[in-house]
Amino acid sequence: MNILNTEKTSTPLLPAKDRSIGIVGLGYVGLPVAVEFGMNKQVVGFDINESRLKELKDGVDFTNEVETEYLQQSDVVYTNEIGRLSECDFIIVAVPTPVDESKKPDLTPLLRASETVGKALKKGTIVVYESTVYPGATEEECVPVLERVSGLKCGEDFFVGYSPERINPGDKVHTFKSIIKVVSGQTPEVLDIVAEVYESVVEAGVHKAPSIKVAEAAKVIENSQRDINIAFMNELSIIFNKMNINTNDVLEAAGTKWNFLNFSPGLVGGHCIGVDPYYLTHKAEKLGYRSQIILSGRRINDDMGKYVVENLVKKLIQQDVPVKEAKVGILGFTFKENCPDTRNTKVIDIVTELNEYGINPLIADPVADQKEAEHEYGIRFVEMDNFKDLDAIIVAVSHQEFKMLNLTQIEKMFSDKGKGILIDIKATISKEVVSKLNSTFWSL
Ligand SMILES: NC(=O)c1ccc[n+]([C@@H]2O[C@H](COP(=O)([O-])OP(=O)(O)OC[C@H]3O[C@@H](n4cnc5c(N)ncnc54)[C@H](O)[C@@H]3O)[C@@H](O)[C@H]2O)c1
Repeated sequence: MNILNTEKTSTPLLPAKDRSIGIVGLGYVGLPVAVEFGMNKQVVGFDINESRLKELKDGVDFTNEVETEYLQQSDVVYTNEIGRLSECDFIIVAVPTPVDESKKPDLTPLLRASETVGKALKKGTIVVYESTVYPGATEEECVPVLERVSGLKCGEDFFVGYSPERINPGDKVHTFKSIIKVVSGQTPEVLDIVAEVYESVVEAGVHKAPSIKVAEAAKVIENSQRDINIAFMNELSIIFNKMNINTNDVLEAAGTKWNFLNFSPGLVGGHCIGVDPYYLTHKAEKLGYRSQIILSGRRINDDMGKYVVENLVKKLIQQDVPVKEAKVGILGFTFKENCPDTRNTKVIDIVTELNEYGINPLIADPVADQKEAEHEYGIRFVEMDNFKDLDAIIVAVSHQEFKMLNLTQIEKMFSDKGKGILIDIKATISKEVVSKLNSTFWSL
């Protein structure tokens, strides 16, 4: 049931072209949105993180989502002043939606941001949420906060919409401008305005969802579908390892069929695919349904770090390397390739598991945000040159830098003429190099 008023609004609303835009939350999602709108007219970019505001004012984006030149061309006022936000009558919210330790949605940032927006709200404003949430969250969780703080009535004085973000960090092809934007609004008139605002910057155009809940649901299922498909691949990999069959060879063969889906095994980290399914299952549980497929996929994916280490330890024992004294190097620490973000990386599970065996691995990641990794996990990276005399290398992330590694470079990392164990989780190292290596090879 849609709790909001779906009637046509009584007073005519300000058209899309006359609206001034504010973005709350300038991270991986919010910044590219702010910068695109800022190419047409001045927009307000609001964030509570002062160091983030400073770097953006200095024309630098450490997430690498927006090029410096592009950032500098765009007319965005970077601020933490609510007064600046109240100049806007189209406010987009793109703050984090994580899970807590028990994997339940943590709506704190979203509700705090809604309080901020509530303070800035004026009559006629449209608030569009872009953060990933479960179906119903905008209307059931955010709207009451907006109303309480502003003293205004949703559906009469101000309006809401929802437009999920589908960008893929590090991906320069599928960008904010080039991905079809799903939009929704609480009345047909609001929907038209939301659509028109986004159409002014999104070249791929928009898809008008019939309700806010539909748009919210579309986003969580996109990521849940991906999570389940990867979990299936991970399960296949566990089975094929027992059968001594190379999973990638199987997938290459099966992939020649026109309708075989192209997924591969791997670690599932980050704050989207590994998190969003829990938003959906949380809401389902509240409605009395316990997920069968989604949660079992989550369990498989969450256990992959442990599984990788188990296999490494078996290989160390087979090669008579004392486990506790084993010298292990990990290449890559981010949650995905070619992206500096280390939050929710599953490589930390590998590190923790190795520590349990008494192994303290060296970790090199030329792409990762060192400050963030130290702050979040207390981890300091080493240069790749320090990878010498190793018993085992785990290639954990498919960064471009690692794909380019040649035979000599890898051989130099091992203790004895390339002899050792190469665990290449995502088959990053080229087949040709692997075939010439003297080491024991293992991949998911
Ligand atoms: N990163 C992605 O690839 C991606 C893709 C699609 C959707 N999403 C979703 O988009 C949302 C934002 O994700 P992100 O990756 O941009 O997060 P992020 O952590 O990179 O950025 C969030 C920003 O919001 C700011 N912030 C936090 N609380 C705030 C508040 N109360 N007021 C103002 N600013 C606040 C933070 O300082 C930070 O700069 C999440 O719901 C996420 O699931 C992310």
